[in-house]
Amino acid sequence: MSIDTFPALGTAPTPLTLDRLIELTAATAADVRAGLHEIRFDAENRWSVRLRGDAYADVWLITWTQDQSTALHDHAGSLGALTVVSGTLTEHYWASGLRDRTIANGHGAAFPLGHVHDVVNRASEPAVSVHAYSPPLTAMSYYDLDGGRLRRTHSVLTHDPEPDVVTLDDVPTIGAAPAGEASR
Ligand SMILES: [Fe+2]
Repeated sequence: MSIDTFPALGTAPTPLTLDRLIELTAATAADVRAGLHEIRFDAENRWSVRLRGDAYADVWLITWTQDQSTALHDHAGSLGALTVVSGTLTEHYWASGLRDRTIANGHGAAFPLGHVHDVVNRASEPAVSVHAYSPPLTAMSYYDLDGGRLRRTHSVLTHDPEPDVVTLDDVPTIGAAPAGEASR
């Protein structure tokens, strides 16, 4: 997806474009496939770790066992993107109605401002994905469907795209300097 697809919604207070975020998640996904980052799965809660963060973007690694999902949410004032490292994710997203798309291993998606979605692993195989947000995530709002219309239920101030699950900020990168030095 290109920023040109949503010219009115693609502007955020960041020099990074949606295309750049896709490139960032794709490059990080390649690092994950190369074994540079530890991956864990948790059947109770989605597992996530922040791989890097600076003033411009945060990059997260998230794992999904079967049927693990987010709820319908947005990313407040941040642009977002993801690349699937392994497995297959299904995205339910709002576009004047709830629509579905499948994001397979090696593919990605970008999220302009105002993008509302739910991501789920419908497959039996676990999935791994890399997500980036720019500027770094500060808040998320959650939604439900009310008579076929989107209704915001609540908002949370959070730097974490998985605010309801356990996260680790400092899982070391294999073969690299201690986290916090290498990830900046
Ligand atoms: Fe999201």
